[in-house]
Amino acid sequence: MYTSKITGLGYYVPENVVTNDDLSKLMDTNDAWIQERTGIQERRHIKKGDGNSTSVMGVKAATLALERANLVPNDIDMIVFATLSPDMYFPGGGVEVQEMMGMRTIPALDVRNQCSGFVYAISVADQFIKTGMYKNVLVIGSENHSGGLDFSTRGRSVSVIFGDGAGAAVLSRNEAGKGGILSTHLHSEGKHKDELALKGPSTGHWVPQIIAENPQEDIPYYPVMNGQFVFKHAIVRFSEVIEEGLQANNLEVKDIDMFIPHQANLRISQFIQHKLKLTDDQVFNNIQKYGNTTAASIPIALTEAWEAGKIKEGDLVVLAAFGSGFTWGSVIIRW
Ligand code: UT7
Repeated sequence: MYTSKITGLGYYVPENVVTNDDLSKLMDTNDAWIQERTGIQERRHIKKGDGNSTSVMGVKAATLALERANLVPNDIDMIVFATLSPDMYFPGGGVEVQEMMGMRTIPALDVRNQCSGFVYAISVADQFIKTGMYKNVLVIGSENHSGGLDFSTRGRSVSVIFGDGAGAAVLSRNEAGKGGILSTHLHSEGKHKDELALKGPSTGHWVPQIIAENPQEDIPYYPVMNGQFVFKHAIVRFSEVIEEGLQANNLEVKDIDMFIPHQANLRISQFIQHKLKLTDDQVFNNIQKYGNTTAASIPIALTEAWEAGKIKEGDLVVLAAFGSGFTWGSVIIRW
């Protein structure tokens, strides 16, 4: 039995910075509200003509991750691509990455678990490496939110939160007993699927049906979120799944060197930090700069924390996420 280890990390965000003041010119919102409720100061949005898309940003992040892993595209045995905002309804982003990076005809799997997407994707990659089936798996989380948000006042409680970007990690085979990914724990609770969702266009909500059901309104294929409900569940599930991961490895909260939470809301991260009694040095947040980039938020934050020298060999690193579905999960890593 093998274990898997993260051997390369990379991220990419579009150059176009959108501040809270910029958003206040489009809708009835303001910098004070956004900062107080979410901690977000600015986010990045793809700009028309800049050449970016969910897959293109994924390739940019992946190219850096491969370089840092000292690998070339031909070394990759599988792609796991997490996104809720693929370039096309089908096929998914994984095959676009395979093509753009000139890879062999390796498997490309798309993961649709929204904010938990990267944690789920890491878990999938980890299983393929553990069993010995593959040596190097490329895991990508990438999102183009700005193309699909309602920037009128009606959509303000959702659209101020989300930003665009991509992060990637290369997982490689590691000899058992030499650290790497110690465990992953995943969960779902579909009864809350409507609390944070984008319902159409889909087979349940095709465009003609959406128009017929909403004749007086703009066509509502925008995401909807019951913010307070999601918030309350997030703080419970985050804590539970971190404890679950630690217990499975006979570890305690005091053993954590670095906790990278999915960047949903700075208040959620701070609540968990407080609950687990973690110091500021044990937690990394960057939602202030990028907003919530969903499947991309953990790999972007992990890469930034690693680049800043905040993660060293032997450190215990904990990743955790919660989001639409609901889905949630944690990853415990001995770096
Ligand atoms: O990543 C996936 C998981 N997602 C999450 O974990 C998100 C969890 N939820 C949240 O982060 C928060 O619930 C939000 C940031 C989305 C909202 O914050 P809140 O403190 O729960 O605000 P609220 O929705 O209760 O709204 C409070 C007020 C309302 O006005 P009234 O009814 O009190 O007059 C809203 O209409 O704030 C108003 N509001 C805004 N005002 C200015 C909502 N959005 C905005 C806005 N600017 N952008």
